[in-house]
Amino acid sequence: MKRIICKDYNEVSRLGAFMFAQQIWSKPDSVLGFATGGTPVGMYRYLVDMYKDGMVDFSAVTTFNLDEYYPMSKSHKQSYDYFMWDNLFSHINVKRENVFLPNGGAADAQKACDEYEHKLTLHGGVDLQLLGIGNNGHIAFNEPCDELHVKTHVIELTEDTIEANARFFDSRDDVPRKALTMGLGSIMKARRIVMLITGKAKTPVVKQMFSGMITPQIPASLLQLHPDVTVVLDTEAAGEL
Ligand code: F6R
Repeated sequence: MKRIICKDYNEVSRLGAFMFAQQIWSKPDSVLGFATGGTPVGMYRYLVDMYKDGMVDFSAVTTFNLDEYYPMSKSHKQSYDYFMWDNLFSHINVKRENVFLPNGGAADAQKACDEYEHKLTLHGGVDLQLLGIGNNGHIAFNEPCDELHVKTHVIELTEDTIEANARFFDSRDDVPRKALTMGLGSIMKARRIVMLITGKAKTPVVKQMFSGMITPQIPASLLQLHPDVTVVLDTEAAGEL
């Protein structure tokens, strides 16, 4: 895993946006993998600015998001669908039919996961995948556990994650207890991965991720097996690396 340590959140966001722009410049019909959460907001802002300045064209791009709460309607303000349109898609020229997120509103969650995995395969997989990391080492919603799933699946969120995500909801009780998430296999199939990590709260997990050990208790540690991962951190998250 390559790592790049930047001064602060702004520098991390700018570099992340530049890496995505570069991907689109080299392959205009790229399949991009996107993430939600607090970390990528700055990067999306930079991508919107680059689009408005005529520097990047999303018209041929396809996007797949990592995950969605379940059950969750698209119109809910805390749905990841809403988040992506609010922070990025509504402000750029990506085509609606080229945007994919797991369907949190599906009656049959497992069927929705299977369909999502199938669509991902039909599109030839992800060229550049954006990742964040949970304080507990999760990537997408692959939570620490004894056995990891390969494909898109339904997952019960851990108390840690419910606690961490409660900040986006009116109350902790409003956080959905389940999610649909790409599996570790779906993520590891991406041709290139960029992970953005900022803030002091992530310092301990960053240390574990780079420890040289691989364990399903720190799902992000599996990324050590991927041939092309760049981790972009701010000095706070990097700690004593
Ligand atoms: C969301 C996702 C999650 C977040 C992680 C970090 O799509 O995949 O794994 O990346 O929970 O979230 P923030 O950026 O809010 O610290």
